[in-house]
Amino acid sequence: MKEAIEQVLKQLEELSVSSQKDVEEARVRFLGKKGCVTALMEQFRTVPAEMKREYGQKLNELKKTVTARIEALKEQAEATAVQLAPKQDLSMPGDPLEPGSRHPVSIVRQEIVDIFRKFGYDVAEGPEIEDDWHVFEALNFPPNHPAREMQDTFFVSTGHLNPLLLRTHTSSVQVRTMESQPLPIRVICPGRVFRNEAISARAHCIFHQVEGLYIDKDVTFADLKQAILLFAREMFGPDTEIRMRPSYFPFTEPSAEVDVSCNICHGKGCNICKGTGWLEIMGCGMVDPNVLEASGIDSKQYSGFAFGMGVERIAMLKWQVNDLRHYFENDMRFLREFTTATEV
Ligand code: PHE
Repeated sequence: MKEAIEQVLKQLEELSVSSQKDVEEARVRFLGKKGCVTALMEQFRTVPAEMKREYGQKLNELKKTVTARIEALKEQAEATAVQLAPKQDLSMPGDPLEPGSRHPVSIVRQEIVDIFRKFGYDVAEGPEIEDDWHVFEALNFPPNHPAREMQDTFFVSTGHLNPLLLRTHTSSVQVRTMESQPLPIRVICPGRVFRNEAISARAHCIFHQVEGLYIDKDVTFADLKQAILLFAREMFGPDTEIRMRPSYFPFTEPSAEVDVSCNICHGKGCNICKGTGWLEIMGCGMVDPNVLEASGIDSKQYSGFAFGMGVERIAMLKWQVNDLRHYFENDMRFLREFTTATEV
């Protein structure tokens, strides 16, 4: 048996393998069910009792040595296999990345901003998380106005005098401008606004606005009408007509809703304008003296007008998209429709 053990050790020493397959074959030859080490272990039963201790130790050692050697050879063969594996081909072309296009809401917002820039308006921006003062209080919202309640406004913190909330309109930026900028003021305020509304084809809890504000001495309703008419003709074409309907906003007096003549049927009546020939595009009015005073502007010396429109609404009219939700779902099939519009 002693000789047999030495024989195995010798074989182990002479073992030369190069591949992972060779190592596996060697493992089977030594340690497999019919392997030589396994055979010796089985022979152990026949060893006379007085020699069992000595051979038991020897056999255990043998098994350990063989196992360790096979393990080492296996690691070696694995390392060689990795080295020999085909290298990455650095000359391979990369994954194709399609160039993106501007979102339809961005395209229309930019168009609106560009028109008013031409008229001499500056762009003003402000925070989306606002306080009660800038969204409501300074804009002459009475304390119990329904827009302050939970069904319309997302509150971030409540319970104190000036709670934080997600702005429901960008009129808050107009207040910040009146508080901080010298007069006269001529700004537009593009931005994202939030309202606690059920999402449907015609309403969404997030949308975009461009609001405008002009304050100077002797600004009249005629100036407002002229500004809106010029804007409408730039946006919807030179033949566009506008009409104003009396309306109500806490921050303007008088207030109006503006309609433009339907650019699809040119006033004849179609399903886009629901047969009326007119499409509503914005709210507007003369800034309420209370609003001027709240921001420290002398309403005896100064007057102004303000207007506000939804960017998605204008985009819907421009492209006859009849479901507001398309603008927020980022469906590539929808967005691709505007790829060429970017360059127009
Ligand atoms: N702030 C109004 C809104 O969000 C729009 C508006 C702005 C109306 C300015 C009149 C004057 O609906």
